[in-house]
This record gives sequence, C-alpha cells and structure tokens, in this order.
Amino acid sequence: MSVLLVEDDSSIALVITAALEAEGFGVTHCDSIAGRDRLLAANRYQALVTDVMLTDGDGIETIGTVRELAPAMPIIILSAQNTLDTAVRASDTGAFEYFPKPFDIDELARTVRQAVGAAQARGDGEEEAPVAGLPLVGRSAAMQAVYRMITRVLRNDLTVLVLGESGTGKELVAEAIHQLGHRKGGPFVAVNTAAIPADLIESELFGHEKGAFTGAVARHIGKFEQANGGTLFLDEIGDMPMQAQTRLLRALQSGSVRRVGGREEVRVDVRIVAATNRDLEPMIAAGTFREDLFYRLNVVPIRLPALRERSDDIPALARHFLQLAAAEGLPRHQLTEDAGQLLSRQPWRGNVRELRNFIYRLALLSREEIIDAAVVSPQLARVERPESEPAGLDAAVAHWLADNHPAPGQVYDTALAAFERPLFVLALRETGGNQLRAAQLLGLNRNTLRKRLHDLAIDPGDLSKA
Ligand SMILES: Nc1ncnc2c1ncn2[C@@H]1O[C@H](COP(=O)(O)OP(=O)(O)OP(=O)(O)O)[C@@H](O)[C@H]1O
Ligand SMILES: [Mg+2]
Repeated sequence: MSVLLVEDDSSIALVITAALEAEGFGVTHCDSIAGRDRLLAANRYQALVTDVMLTDGDGIETIGTVRELAPAMPIIILSAQNTLDTAVRASDTGAFEYFPKPFDIDELARTVRQAVGAAQARGDGEEEAPVAGLPLVGRSAAMQAVYRMITRVLRNDLTVLVLGESGTGKELVAEAIHQLGHRKGGPFVAVNTAAIPADLIESELFGHEKGAFTGAVARHIGKFEQANGGTLFLDEIGDMPMQAQTRLLRALQSGSVRRVGGREEVRVDVRIVAATNRDLEPMIAAGTFREDLFYRLNVVPIRLPALRERSDDIPALARHFLQLAAAEGLPRHQLTEDAGQLLSRQPWRGNVRELRNFIYRLALLSREEIIDAAVVSPQLARVERPESEPAGLDAAVAHWLADNHPAPGQVYDTALAAFERPLFVLALRETGGNQLRAAQLLGLNRNTLRKRLHDLAIDPGDLSKA
C-alpha cells in the first residue's frame, strides 16, 4: 500500500515524494483529478495528499468522489490559495490536515504518518458541509495560523478567547466562527460588556424578573437566554466589573442562569466566544480579573496579529475596502501597485479599522479613478498629524458613534462612559493614581469619582505605576 499524491507541479511532487519515501511510504503520483479517480477506483491507498487547483478541476470540490471511492482514507490538502475559504472548505471535507503553501515538508511527512496511524486505529469516514461567502481578508502566514485555529473550533463548542489589539478583527472572527460553525442555524448574540453601565450588566446578561429592582417594570430575557442554541459573543471581556465576572463564571460552570430577582435556574445551551484587547495577565496579577474565569474562557485562544505584523496583507485589504466602499455607493477606484506599497509601510496603530476608515475617506475624496502613491501620500500626511494637532471632539464623537453603534436608548450613558474612561485614566496618570488629587484636578467630588471608577471598573492602582 502507498500514499496517493495528486500534484500538478512536478518539482513540488518530487520533493514530497522524497520526504514521504524517507518516512517509509511508497508513493503513487498523478497530476489530475481524472488520474486520481482512476487510481482510486482500482487501488487502495493509505492516504491521499492533494493539491487544490488542478488542471482539470478543484481538488476540494471534487472530494465527494474520493469519499465514495475510499470513505475511510485520510486526506491531506495542500493549497497555494491561502484564504480562509480554502482552509474552511478543506476542513469541511473532514480532511485530516490542511497545509497552506509554502509548508514545512518534514511536518507534512510527519502528518501523513499520524494520519495513517489514526486511520488504522479507527477506520472511519466523515461528514461534509459546503460553505461560501467569507469575510476575512489576508493570506499572510500570521493569518494562516488564525484560519487554522478557526477551522479547529467549527465542529465543537469549545470556548474561544479572541485576543488582539483594537481593530484587528476580533469581532469578525467571532462572527466567522458562528457563521461557519455547526451552530449557524442558531442566534449570534453580541454583548459589549464595556458599553453597559456596571449596575446593568447582570440584568443584561442574565435577565431580570418583573419588580427585581426599581425600574424593572417587566420581565427581561438576558443575552444568555437569547443566545440559546447559538453563540454568545462576550466582547471587551477585560472591562467587566468583578461582581459580573463572578456571576458569569457561575453561569459558565453550571450551564444555567438565574434571572436577577428570579428563583429558578434556566438551562442554556450556548457557545461562548469572548474577546478583549486588554492584556489579562497583569490584570489577574492585580486582582482585577478573576483567574478562574480566565481559565474558563481561555480554552482555545486565538491571537490576532497587529496589522503591522502582516503588512503584506495591506494591499489586498485596501482593495477589499475600496470594493466595499463602491458597493456602498462611493465612487469606484483602483489602487496601483506603488500606492499599495506605500500603504504597507505605514504603522496603522489602529490596525484594520484605521486602514478601513482611511480607505473609505480616500474613496470619498479622490477624483481620479486610479489611486496611486501621489494621491495617497498627502492623505497619509494628514492622518499622521493628529498627534500634534488633535481633531476636535465633535469629529471624535462622530467617529466613535460610527464605530460603536451603541444600542438605542443607551447612547447617552454609553457615550458618557466612553468619554469618562480616558478622562479619568489621564487624570489618575497625572496624579500617580492618587484619587483625592485626581478628584481635585477634575473638580469632582471624591466620592463621585470613586463611584464612577468602580462603575467603569477602572483600578487606580493599575495607573499608579504607569
Ligand atoms: N481580516 C479582515 N478582513 C476584512 N476586514 C477586516 C479584517 N479584520 C478586520 N476587518 C474590519 O476592520 C474593522 C475592525 O474589526 P473588528 O471590529 O472586528 O475589530 P476588533 O478587533 O473587534 O476591535 P476592538 O478591539 O476595537 O473592538 C471592521 O470593520 C472589520 O470588518
Ligand atoms: Mg471589537
């Protein structure tokens, strides 16, 4: 018995054959889907290693035939089309492993050995489900690692913790996990724990009974119950107040919630995806984030790279946003190679979100259809300036509203909290974390400041060191 290798690039085929032979496998090579199916109909193989784009078709689309001919044979997919789409399509075939090109040849050989070992131990086949329309752009090695992690959580309910700087795409990843996963038929409910006033978080998450507190005029079903059968996305988890953390932990441990003011435990079936741009470990050390909750959430961490760590994705992202802008009715534009290069060299401290906003502005302002470096560079000079010449508050508020979409009826409270946070942090930094002096500086009653800091889960101790 041997491994069947389907690869139309003969030099890659040679390298793989050599590596597999060194592992002790025989290798049969063919370069087309027709060849593959002929060989599979006539022989049995220990494993299939296949490329995706072949001269006579797509190695993934036609995998159904392979499954009919050899249901239990492990499949390992190689692809130069390093998109999330390929990664997901590959994993939907029930493929043992997916290797984006270029890959480590020794790792491939090791994986084939493992796959053959596992198939001998079991001897089963698997299900499949087609997927389309994927939102994540970028083929860099850093994003490949992200796609691989995503594909690993689609068919289970493991809790996922998405980490990364602001604007790196954490929410998009959470949505992708839901939409591509086996819970896609259920609801996707997102809660931004930083945007809810601290005393309302529990009622938001767990709901409340009529009369549970002043203002609770009717029963309210919380986000946990709303997400039943689907996915609950807990965003900005690092900003959650302590008391809510404790109740969240209890809900996660028991798989049930109790509405505020209620008696019965309501069982809920939700998949949890949490996200934060904060570094949780120092918060655990400082006692502002529960360590046991961290371990509950951090079952599968997915860390998103900063945009500057994957600058080769920037031109593709920029073109993607130009297309989106055009689809939303802005003038259509094309980005030249040199403009893409210029964008790639920027730091983009606000990550993909900053790039998106920049491109939308460019799409709106540019008269020419072709956007080249000469068009981009004066605009870049304008965004680099704000540090010395800050934009007005009205611009900041407009930006913030556009980015955060606070829930109707909560705009004022949410905006005020968003405004107070940086203001208090600055005042506390200024005074080395001294609340009394910060209150004097702000011209605010000391107890008022203390209460607001508590509500906003700001720990002055954290700021004394900075
Ligand atoms: N890989 C990507 N491909 C296409 N669009 C992306 C990608 N990553 C992020 N975006 C877009 O960038 C913007 C910011 O992404 P998102 O809101 O998911 O960031 P975030 O990590 O949740 O940020 P924050 O920590 O500030 O909440 C969104 O408009 C999103 O659609
Ligand atoms: Mg977010």
